[in-house]
Amino acid sequence: MSEETEPRPASDAVGTASADGAEPILEVTDLVKHFPIKAGILIDHEIGAVKAVDGVSFSVNRGETLGLVGESGCGKSTLSRAILQLIEPTSGSVRFDGREITGLSRGEMRKLRPQMQMVFQDPYSSLNPRKRVAQIVGDPMKLHGIVPRGGAVKAVQELLERVGLNPEHYNRFPHEFSGGQRQRIGIARALSLNPKLIIADEPVSALDVSIQAQIINLLEDLQEELDLTYVFVAHDLGVVRHVADRIAVMYLGKIVELGPAAEVYANPIHPYTLSLLSAVPIPDPRANAARKQIVLEGDVPSPADPPEACRFHTRCPFATDVCSVEDPPLIDHGGGHFAACHHPLDAGGKPRAAEALPSPA
Ligand SMILES: Nc1ncnc2c1ncn2[C@@H]1O[C@H](COP(=O)(O)OP(=O)(O)O)[C@@H](O)[C@H]1O
Ligand code: SF4
Ligand SMILES: [Mg+2]
Repeated sequence: MSEETEPRPASDAVGTASADGAEPILEVTDLVKHFPIKAGILIDHEIGAVKAVDGVSFSVNRGETLGLVGESGCGKSTLSRAILQLIEPTSGSVRFDGREITGLSRGEMRKLRPQMQMVFQDPYSSLNPRKRVAQIVGDPMKLHGIVPRGGAVKAVQELLERVGLNPEHYNRFPHEFSGGQRQRIGIARALSLNPKLIIADEPVSALDVSIQAQIINLLEDLQEELDLTYVFVAHDLGVVRHVADRIAVMYLGKIVELGPAAEVYANPIHPYTLSLLSAVPIPDPRANAARKQIVLEGDVPSPADPPEACRFHTRCPFATDVCSVEDPPLIDHGGGHFAACHHPLDAGGKPRAAEALPSPA
Protein backbone atom coordinates (compact mmCIF):
# COMPACT_ATOMS: atom_id res chain seq x y z
CA MET A 1 0.00 0.00 0.00
CA SER A 2 1.45 3.35 -0.92
CA GLU A 3 1.76 6.00 1.79
CA GLU A 4 -0.68 8.33 0.04
CA THR A 5 -3.44 5.82 -0.45
CA GLU A 6 -6.25 6.12 2.07
CA PRO A 7 -7.56 2.67 2.84
CA ARG A 8 -10.92 2.34 1.16
CA PRO A 9 -13.73 0.66 3.11
CA ALA A 10 -15.03 -2.42 1.37
CA SER A 11 -18.74 -1.66 1.89
CA ASP A 12 -20.91 -3.18 -0.79
CA ALA A 13 -18.40 -2.68 -3.57
CA VAL A 14 -15.90 -5.38 -2.61
CA GLY A 15 -14.33 -6.52 -5.82
CA THR A 16 -16.88 -4.86 -8.08
CA ALA A 17 -14.92 -1.75 -8.90
CA SER A 18 -12.78 -3.51 -11.43
CA ALA A 19 -10.44 -1.31 -13.39
CA ASP A 20 -10.37 -3.66 -16.38
CA GLY A 21 -14.07 -3.19 -17.00
CA ALA A 22 -14.93 -6.76 -15.96
CA GLU A 23 -18.58 -7.10 -15.22
CA PRO A 24 -19.94 -8.81 -12.10
CA ILE A 25 -22.34 -11.68 -12.59
CA LEU A 26 -22.81 -12.10 -8.84
CA GLU A 27 -22.92 -9.35 -6.21
CA VAL A 28 -23.36 -10.32 -2.59
CA THR A 29 -23.92 -7.52 -0.08
CA ASP A 30 -24.04 -7.84 3.70
CA LEU A 31 -25.39 -11.36 3.48
CA VAL A 32 -26.40 -12.84 6.81
CA LYS A 33 -27.63 -16.33 7.71
CA HIS A 34 -28.36 -17.02 11.35
CA PHE A 35 -29.82 -20.34 12.45
CA PRO A 36 -32.04 -19.84 15.51
CA ILE A 37 -31.29 -21.95 18.59
CA LYS A 38 -34.55 -22.92 20.19
CA ALA A 39 -35.43 -24.29 23.60
CA GLY A 40 -38.62 -25.10 25.46
CA ILE A 41 -40.82 -28.10 26.11
CA LEU A 42 -44.27 -27.04 25.01
CA ILE A 43 -43.54 -23.75 23.31
CA ASP A 44 -40.28 -23.21 21.47
CA HIS A 45 -38.56 -19.94 22.08
CA GLU A 46 -35.39 -18.60 20.59
CA ILE A 47 -32.45 -18.52 23.00
CA GLY A 48 -29.74 -17.58 20.55
CA ALA A 49 -28.48 -18.04 17.02
CA VAL A 50 -25.71 -19.79 15.16
CA LYS A 51 -24.19 -16.91 13.24
CA ALA A 52 -23.02 -19.08 10.34
CA VAL A 53 -22.75 -16.18 7.86
CA ASP A 54 -22.54 -12.75 9.41
CA GLY A 55 -22.35 -9.89 6.92
CA VAL A 56 -20.51 -11.06 3.82
CA SER A 57 -19.94 -8.83 0.78
CA PHE A 58 -18.12 -9.72 -2.42
CA SER A 59 -18.70 -9.98 -6.12
CA VAL A 60 -17.67 -12.39 -8.85
CA ASN A 61 -16.96 -11.27 -12.38
CA ARG A 62 -18.15 -13.10 -15.46
CA GLY A 63 -15.77 -15.91 -16.40
CA GLU A 64 -13.83 -15.58 -13.16
CA THR A 65 -13.08 -18.21 -10.51
CA LEU A 66 -13.36 -16.99 -6.94
CA GLY A 67 -11.79 -19.34 -4.41
CA LEU A 68 -13.63 -19.31 -1.07
CA VAL A 69 -11.42 -20.73 1.66
CA GLY A 70 -11.68 -21.29 5.40
CA GLU A 71 -11.60 -24.00 8.06
CA SER A 72 -14.46 -26.44 8.44
CA GLY A 73 -17.44 -24.80 10.16
CA CYS A 74 -16.62 -21.22 9.12
CA GLY A 75 -19.80 -20.94 7.04
CA LYS A 76 -18.75 -21.74 3.47
CA SER A 77 -21.57 -24.16 2.71
CA THR A 78 -24.15 -21.97 4.39
CA LEU A 79 -22.94 -18.99 2.35
CA SER A 80 -23.06 -21.05 -0.86
CA ARG A 81 -26.59 -22.20 -0.18
CA ALA A 82 -27.78 -18.76 0.88
CA ILE A 83 -26.38 -17.25 -2.34
CA LEU A 84 -28.24 -19.80 -4.45
CA GLN A 85 -31.41 -19.30 -2.33
CA LEU A 86 -31.39 -22.99 -1.40
CA ILE A 87 -31.81 -21.65 2.12
CA GLU A 88 -33.42 -18.30 2.86
CA PRO A 89 -30.91 -15.65 3.95
CA THR A 90 -31.68 -13.84 7.20
CA SER A 91 -30.84 -10.51 5.55
CA GLY A 92 -28.70 -8.96 2.85
CA SER A 93 -28.74 -8.83 -0.89
CA VAL A 94 -27.74 -11.20 -3.68
CA ARG A 95 -27.78 -9.85 -7.22
CA PHE A 96 -27.37 -12.31 -10.07
CA ASP A 97 -26.87 -10.95 -13.57
CA GLY A 98 -27.95 -7.52 -12.34
CA ARG A 99 -31.15 -8.73 -10.68
CA GLU A 100 -31.97 -8.99 -6.97
CA ILE A 101 -32.82 -12.61 -6.24
CA THR A 102 -33.55 -12.57 -2.52
CA GLY A 103 -37.28 -12.54 -1.94
CA LEU A 104 -38.17 -13.90 -5.39
CA SER A 105 -41.23 -16.13 -5.49
CA ARG A 106 -40.78 -19.88 -5.89
CA GLY A 107 -41.95 -19.67 -9.50
CA GLU A 108 -39.54 -16.88 -10.40
CA MET A 109 -36.69 -18.67 -8.67
CA ARG A 110 -37.54 -21.87 -10.53
CA LYS A 111 -37.10 -20.04 -13.82
CA LEU A 112 -33.75 -18.71 -12.70
CA ARG A 113 -32.49 -21.92 -11.10
CA PRO A 114 -30.97 -23.45 -14.29
CA GLN A 115 -28.53 -20.54 -14.52
CA MET A 116 -27.00 -21.07 -11.08
CA GLN A 117 -26.03 -24.57 -10.07
CA MET A 118 -24.15 -26.27 -7.27
CA VAL A 119 -21.66 -29.13 -7.22
CA PHE A 120 -21.66 -30.78 -3.81
CA GLN A 121 -18.80 -32.02 -1.69
CA ASP A 122 -19.89 -35.58 -1.22
CA PRO A 123 -20.43 -37.43 -4.48
CA TYR A 124 -21.81 -40.38 -2.46
CA SER A 125 -24.68 -38.69 -0.70
CA SER A 126 -25.49 -36.05 -3.30
CA LEU A 127 -26.61 -38.60 -5.90
CA ASN A 128 -29.84 -40.53 -5.39
CA PRO A 129 -28.72 -44.20 -5.12
CA ARG A 130 -32.00 -45.48 -6.54
CA LYS A 131 -31.82 -43.47 -9.73
CA ARG A 132 -29.88 -44.30 -12.85
CA VAL A 133 -27.45 -41.79 -14.32
CA ALA A 134 -29.87 -41.16 -17.18
CA GLN A 135 -32.45 -39.95 -14.64
CA ILE A 136 -30.02 -38.07 -12.40
CA VAL A 137 -28.67 -36.05 -15.29
CA GLY A 138 -31.69 -36.18 -17.61
CA ASP A 139 -34.62 -35.45 -15.28
CA PRO A 140 -33.68 -31.80 -14.63
CA MET A 141 -33.38 -31.26 -18.39
CA LYS A 142 -36.86 -32.69 -18.95
CA LEU A 143 -38.28 -30.70 -16.04
CA HIS A 144 -36.96 -27.43 -17.43
CA GLY A 145 -37.82 -28.30 -21.04
CA ILE A 146 -34.20 -28.15 -22.17
CA VAL A 147 -34.36 -31.28 -24.36
CA PRO A 148 -36.93 -32.14 -27.00
CA ARG A 149 -39.25 -35.09 -26.29
CA GLY A 150 -37.33 -38.33 -26.59
CA GLY A 151 -34.00 -36.52 -26.82
CA ALA A 152 -32.88 -36.91 -23.24
CA VAL A 153 -30.76 -40.04 -23.64
CA LYS A 154 -28.69 -38.49 -26.39
CA ALA A 155 -28.25 -35.29 -24.37
CA VAL A 156 -27.22 -37.28 -21.30
CA GLN A 157 -24.71 -39.28 -23.34
CA GLU A 158 -23.19 -36.09 -24.72
CA LEU A 159 -22.84 -34.71 -21.22
CA LEU A 160 -21.28 -37.92 -19.91
CA GLU A 161 -18.73 -37.78 -22.68
CA ARG A 162 -18.03 -34.14 -21.95
CA VAL A 163 -17.20 -34.90 -18.31
CA GLY A 164 -14.98 -37.85 -19.24
CA LEU A 165 -17.37 -40.75 -18.61
CA ASN A 166 -18.32 -43.58 -20.94
CA PRO A 167 -21.60 -42.51 -22.61
CA GLU A 168 -22.66 -46.17 -22.71
CA HIS A 169 -22.91 -46.15 -18.92
CA TYR A 170 -25.98 -43.92 -18.80
CA ASN A 171 -28.10 -46.77 -17.48
CA ARG A 172 -25.96 -47.51 -14.46
CA PHE A 173 -26.57 -46.63 -10.81
CA PRO A 174 -24.24 -44.36 -8.79
CA HIS A 175 -22.80 -47.29 -6.76
CA GLU A 176 -21.38 -48.74 -9.96
CA PHE A 177 -18.96 -45.81 -10.25
CA SER A 178 -15.83 -44.79 -8.34
CA GLY A 179 -15.72 -41.63 -6.18
CA GLY A 180 -14.10 -39.55 -8.93
CA GLN A 181 -16.58 -40.83 -11.50
CA ARG A 182 -19.49 -39.98 -9.21
CA GLN A 183 -18.21 -36.45 -8.87
CA ARG A 184 -18.12 -36.32 -12.69
CA ILE A 185 -21.81 -37.33 -12.64
CA GLY A 186 -22.47 -34.51 -10.17
CA ILE A 187 -20.73 -32.11 -12.52
CA ALA A 188 -22.73 -33.44 -15.50
CA ARG A 189 -25.92 -32.87 -13.52
CA ALA A 190 -24.90 -29.29 -12.73
CA LEU A 191 -24.08 -28.71 -16.42
CA SER A 192 -27.30 -30.23 -17.70
CA LEU A 193 -29.21 -26.96 -17.45
CA ASN A 194 -26.57 -24.80 -19.19
CA PRO A 195 -25.72 -22.73 -16.10
CA LYS A 196 -23.79 -19.47 -16.09
CA LEU A 197 -22.60 -19.78 -12.49
CA ILE A 198 -21.48 -22.89 -10.63
CA ILE A 199 -20.77 -22.93 -6.93
CA ALA A 200 -18.58 -25.96 -6.33
CA ASP A 201 -18.69 -26.66 -2.60
CA GLU A 202 -15.46 -28.54 -1.81
CA PRO A 203 -15.83 -30.62 -4.98
CA VAL A 204 -12.61 -32.56 -4.38
CA SER A 205 -12.37 -32.75 -0.57
CA ALA A 206 -13.89 -36.23 -0.41
CA LEU A 207 -11.67 -37.62 -3.19
CA ASP A 208 -8.26 -39.32 -3.20
CA VAL A 209 -5.43 -36.88 -3.80
CA SER A 210 -4.60 -38.65 -7.08
CA ILE A 211 -8.13 -38.00 -8.38
CA GLN A 212 -8.38 -34.40 -7.15
CA ALA A 213 -6.22 -32.94 -9.90
CA GLN A 214 -8.24 -34.73 -12.60
CA ILE A 215 -11.49 -33.21 -11.35
CA ILE A 216 -9.93 -29.76 -10.99
CA ASN A 217 -8.58 -30.00 -14.55
CA LEU A 218 -11.99 -31.06 -15.79
CA LEU A 219 -13.63 -28.06 -14.11
CA GLU A 220 -11.03 -25.77 -15.66
CA ASP A 221 -11.54 -27.20 -19.16
CA LEU A 222 -15.31 -26.89 -18.84
CA GLN A 223 -15.00 -23.29 -17.71
CA GLU A 224 -13.15 -22.41 -20.88
CA GLU A 225 -15.42 -24.39 -23.20
CA LEU A 226 -18.69 -23.23 -21.68
CA ASP A 227 -17.87 -19.74 -20.44
CA LEU A 228 -18.64 -20.58 -16.85
CA THR A 229 -18.15 -18.52 -13.72
CA TYR A 230 -17.10 -20.42 -10.59
CA VAL A 231 -17.14 -19.98 -6.88
CA PHE A 232 -14.75 -22.73 -5.86
CA VAL A 233 -14.98 -23.60 -2.16
CA ALA A 234 -12.13 -25.33 -0.32
CA HIS A 235 -10.94 -25.72 3.26
CA ASP A 236 -7.30 -25.20 2.41
CA LEU A 237 -5.49 -22.75 0.24
CA GLY A 238 -3.46 -25.45 -1.54
CA VAL A 239 -6.45 -26.78 -3.48
CA VAL A 240 -7.51 -23.49 -5.05
CA ARG A 241 -4.00 -22.20 -5.70
CA HIS A 242 -3.97 -23.02 -9.39
CA VAL A 243 -7.61 -22.41 -10.25
CA ALA A 244 -8.66 -19.22 -8.52
CA ASP A 245 -8.32 -15.73 -10.01
CA ARG A 246 -9.21 -14.18 -6.68
CA ILE A 247 -9.38 -15.65 -3.20
CA ALA A 248 -11.75 -14.86 -0.34
CA VAL A 249 -10.71 -16.13 3.09
CA MET A 250 -13.48 -16.72 5.63
CA TYR A 251 -13.27 -16.99 9.40
CA LEU A 252 -16.31 -17.58 11.61
CA GLY A 253 -18.92 -16.23 9.21
CA LYS A 254 -16.97 -13.26 7.88
CA ILE A 255 -14.57 -12.56 5.05
CA VAL A 256 -11.24 -11.51 6.56
CA GLU A 257 -9.19 -11.17 3.37
CA LEU A 258 -10.06 -10.92 -0.32
CA GLY A 259 -7.80 -10.25 -3.25
CA PRO A 260 -6.12 -11.38 -6.46
CA ALA A 261 -4.92 -14.96 -5.88
CA ALA A 262 -1.24 -14.29 -6.63
CA GLU A 263 -1.25 -11.37 -4.17
CA VAL A 264 -2.98 -13.28 -1.40
CA TYR A 265 -0.47 -16.15 -1.72
CA ALA A 266 2.63 -13.99 -2.00
CA ASN A 267 1.69 -11.13 0.31
CA PRO A 268 -1.04 -12.15 2.73
CA ILE A 269 -2.26 -9.28 4.89
CA HIS A 270 -4.40 -11.05 7.50
CA PRO A 271 -2.73 -13.24 10.14
CA TYR A 272 -5.38 -15.93 9.62
CA THR A 273 -4.50 -16.18 5.92
CA LEU A 274 -0.86 -16.43 6.91
CA SER A 275 -1.62 -19.32 9.24
CA LEU A 276 -3.55 -21.11 6.49
CA LEU A 277 -0.68 -20.54 4.07
CA SER A 278 1.90 -21.80 6.51
CA ALA A 279 0.04 -25.11 6.53
CA VAL A 280 0.15 -25.54 2.73
CA PRO A 281 2.81 -28.16 2.01
CA ILE A 282 5.53 -27.21 -0.46
CA PRO A 283 7.26 -29.67 -2.78
CA ASP A 284 10.84 -29.16 -1.52
CA PRO A 285 11.10 -31.12 1.78
CA ARG A 286 14.13 -29.12 3.00
CA ALA A 287 12.41 -25.79 2.38
CA ASN A 288 9.32 -27.22 4.02
CA ALA A 289 11.29 -28.21 7.13
CA ALA A 290 13.00 -24.80 7.34
CA ARG A 291 9.69 -23.01 7.23
CA LYS A 292 8.07 -21.75 10.38
CA GLN A 293 4.58 -23.20 10.73
CA ILE A 294 2.05 -21.08 12.52
CA VAL A 295 0.06 -23.47 14.62
CA LEU A 296 -3.10 -21.84 15.85
CA GLU A 297 -3.89 -22.32 19.50
CA GLY A 298 -7.23 -23.74 20.52
CA ASP A 299 -10.25 -24.72 18.48
CA VAL A 300 -12.35 -22.54 16.25
CA PRO A 301 -14.78 -20.76 18.61
CA SER A 302 -18.47 -21.53 18.27
CA PRO A 303 -20.40 -19.39 15.76
CA ALA A 304 -23.21 -19.41 18.35
CA ASP A 305 -21.01 -17.30 20.61
CA PRO A 306 -18.26 -15.73 18.48
CA PRO A 307 -15.53 -13.62 20.14
CA GLU A 308 -16.22 -9.88 20.34
CA ALA A 309 -14.58 -7.43 17.92
CA CYS A 310 -12.02 -9.25 15.77
CA ARG A 311 -13.30 -12.83 15.83
CA PHE A 312 -9.77 -14.14 15.37
CA HIS A 313 -8.36 -12.45 18.47
CA THR A 314 -8.62 -15.55 20.68
CA ARG A 315 -6.18 -17.41 18.41
CA CYS A 316 -4.18 -14.67 16.72
CA PRO A 317 -0.44 -14.57 17.47
CA PHE A 318 -0.36 -10.82 16.71
CA ALA A 319 -3.37 -9.73 18.80
CA THR A 320 -3.24 -6.64 21.04
CA ASP A 321 -5.83 -5.00 23.28
CA VAL A 322 -7.60 -3.13 20.48
CA CYS A 323 -8.37 -6.42 18.73
CA SER A 324 -10.85 -7.52 21.40
CA VAL A 325 -12.51 -4.09 21.56
CA GLU A 326 -12.92 -2.87 17.97
CA ASP A 327 -14.06 -4.91 15.00
CA PRO A 328 -11.59 -4.18 12.18
CA PRO A 329 -13.39 -3.25 8.93
CA LEU A 330 -12.56 -4.96 5.63
CA ILE A 331 -10.60 -2.27 3.78
CA ASP A 332 -8.74 -2.04 0.49
CA HIS A 333 -4.98 -2.13 0.92
CA GLY A 334 -4.46 -1.34 -2.76
CA GLY A 335 -5.13 -3.16 -6.02
CA GLY A 336 -8.37 -4.67 -4.79
CA HIS A 337 -6.59 -6.53 -1.97
CA PHE A 338 -8.89 -6.25 1.05
CA ALA A 339 -8.26 -7.30 4.63
CA ALA A 340 -9.86 -6.81 8.05
CA CYS A 341 -7.08 -6.45 10.63
CA HIS A 342 -5.78 -3.81 13.06
CA HIS A 343 -2.19 -4.97 12.55
CA PRO A 344 -2.03 -5.85 8.87
CA LEU A 345 1.03 -7.80 7.78
CA ASP A 346 1.74 -5.36 4.94
CA ALA A 347 2.42 -2.67 7.53
CA GLY A 348 5.68 -3.79 9.12
CA GLY A 349 4.68 -7.43 9.54
CA LYS A 350 6.41 -8.71 6.41
CA PRO A 351 9.51 -10.19 8.08
CA ARG A 352 7.33 -12.24 10.43
CA ALA A 353 5.17 -13.30 7.52
CA ALA A 354 8.07 -14.25 5.25
CA GLU A 355 9.28 -16.97 7.60
CA ALA A 356 6.03 -18.84 7.31
CA LEU A 357 5.22 -18.43 3.65
CA PRO A 358 5.63 -21.16 1.08
CA SER A 359 8.23 -20.12 -1.48
CA PRO A 360 6.77 -19.27 -4.90
CA ALA A 361 6.00 -22.45 -6.89
N1 LIG B 1 -29.21 -26.09 9.35
C1 LIG B 1 -28.38 -25.67 10.32
N2 LIG B 1 -28.85 -25.42 11.57
C2 LIG B 1 -28.04 -24.98 12.56
N3 LIG B 1 -26.72 -24.74 12.38
C3 LIG B 1 -26.20 -24.98 11.17
C4 LIG B 1 -26.99 -25.46 10.08
N4 LIG B 1 -26.18 -25.60 8.97
C5 LIG B 1 -24.95 -25.23 9.39
N5 LIG B 1 -24.95 -24.86 10.69
C6 LIG B 1 -23.81 -24.38 11.48
O1 LIG B 1 -23.29 -23.24 10.81
C7 LIG B 1 -21.87 -23.22 10.92
C8 LIG B 1 -21.27 -23.14 9.54
O2 LIG B 1 -21.47 -24.38 8.89
P1 LIG B 1 -21.10 -24.64 7.37
O3 LIG B 1 -21.68 -23.57 6.55
O4 LIG B 1 -21.47 -26.04 7.04
O5 LIG B 1 -19.51 -24.48 7.40
P2 LIG B 1 -18.40 -25.00 6.37
O6 LIG B 1 -19.09 -25.34 5.09
O7 LIG B 1 -17.44 -23.88 6.26
O8 LIG B 1 -17.77 -26.20 7.01
C9 LIG B 1 -21.48 -24.47 11.70
O9 LIG B 1 -21.33 -24.12 13.06
C10 LIG B 1 -22.67 -25.38 11.52
O10 LIG B 1 -22.80 -26.25 12.60
S1 SF4 C 1 -7.26 -7.51 14.28
FE1 SF4 C 1 -5.82 -8.21 15.82
S2 SF4 C 1 -6.57 -10.22 16.46
FE2 SF4 C 1 -7.57 -9.69 14.54
S3 SF4 C 1 -6.29 -10.63 13.00
FE3 SF4 C 1 -5.57 -8.53 13.21
S4 SF4 C 1 -3.93 -8.63 14.72
FE4 SF4 C 1 -5.05 -10.55 14.86
MG1 LIG D 1 -19.04 -27.10 3.97
